[in-house]
Amino acid sequence: MKTIIEPFRIKVVEPLQMRTREERESIVRKAGFNMFLIPAADVLIDLLTDSGTGAMSSLQWAGVMAADESYAGSPDFFHFERVLREITGFHHVLPTHQGRASERILFELLGGPGRVVPNNAHFDTTRANIEHSGAEAVDLPIAEARQPRLAHPFKGNMDVAALEALIQRVGRENIPVVMCTVTSNSFGGQPVSLANLRAIRDVCDRYGLPLFLDACRFAENAWFIKQREAGQHDRPVRAIVRDMFDLADGATISAKKDGMVNIGGVLLVRDEALFQRASNLLILTEGYVTYGGLAGRDLAAMAQGFREVLDEDYLCYRIRSAEYVGEKLLAAGIQIIEPPGGHAIYIDAAAFCPHIPATQFPGQALVVALYRHAGIRGVEIGSVMFGGGGHAAPALELVRLAFPRRVYTQSHMDYAVEAIIEVFRDRDQLRGLRIISEPPALRHFLVRFEEIA
Ligand code: F0G
Repeated sequence: MKTIIEPFRIKVVEPLQMRTREERESIVRKAGFNMFLIPAADVLIDLLTDSGTGAMSSLQWAGVMAADESYAGSPDFFHFERVLREITGFHHVLPTHQGRASERILFELLGGPGRVVPNNAHFDTTRANIEHSGAEAVDLPIAEARQPRLAHPFKGNMDVAALEALIQRVGRENIPVVMCTVTSNSFGGQPVSLANLRAIRDVCDRYGLPLFLDACRFAENAWFIKQREAGQHDRPVRAIVRDMFDLADGATISAKKDGMVNIGGVLLVRDEALFQRASNLLILTEGYVTYGGLAGRDLAAMAQGFREVLDEDYLCYRIRSAEYVGEKLLAAGIQIIEPPGGHAIYIDAAAFCPHIPATQFPGQALVVALYRHAGIRGVEIGSVMFGGGGHAAPALELVRLAFPRRVYTQSHMDYAVEAIIEVFRDRDQLRGLRIISEPPALRHFLVRFEEIA
């Protein structure tokens, strides 16, 4: 069969709210043209993020009902720990409330002034936590990652030569950890190959440095490896996942992505002493080590979610959905980051509306147009998100349409594609924006704009 179906059927439905174009016009103005300030009830198809927005399975919900809520030593913690040990091979498993909580604990322990943390590409919360500790976060993507039109199977790869050069320049004693983000969210949801992970590991070994994964989308990354990397096609995803984790000394995970839950995170550590220090911080700021800021029911849902994400029928459908949208946009002449990413499509907004200069936020103009035209909510990843606060303007002006897991069907995707193509036909009408107020850090969440006449 050629048709790839959603490998689930729907047991519970949530009605979508239809708003008129006039209603959306007043909603977007009231929100200062910022998608984060639009009430979710006023959004028809929400592609703001794939984080925490997925649908849980019947078995996850069953786990929620059956879970034990003891403060210490809940059986659901031990089950969660067993599942994570089985999948990742890590003995020390700490639950946290989400990915950035794992990051905060890690960088409070390993960061600090004068330290430098390399990564293929830091996600914004990782960068912010590193910088908050006083350390410097450095992105080392391969050169291909910065070229949207270039199709490369592993655009998430790290530039290993640049890593080595950085270590020699700043000194190994100033690098507490090397990070690698799988898949690379900041560069288009693109995967990192096993060969690249091994090459990073080699450099780390030569300089005696630990390697940590930012493993939010580890299963999607493994699926890409299975599809694209020589010699991997016949191996189970579970074995590839294990290879990825075996190369690392630790991992921060937001379970809101491939953990298939609405809230939850994990911190994995191999080193005994670091584990003890992380446990102490976890207790201080998140919760006791057997719940880490979560309820027992969240641990039950996570344990089941981490199992389900390894289902290859699911991963095939998942990765194909993004590819399907990407192919249709490309066929209509709309430039996206090629090839399509695992969890999202990234539209090249600078190419979409070349009449709007970066100083007038072309990505934000496109995001506003998609909401206005069809009630679709995407997110700008460009000068709004990364500019301001003394940061240089980013290389790419992108709009990310991220796909929640198991939530929307193919007809929702067809609707989204049709809407984007309609906006593209009338792209001359898109108008730039001017900032009228902004907060000092992570400005995209609260910034307000006005349209330039
Ligand atoms: N690392 C990566 C690669 C991420 O994509 C995210 C979150 C985090 C860390 C932080 O995890 O949100 O659970 O604290 N990404 C979401 C997104 C927010 O929309 O891409 P968190």
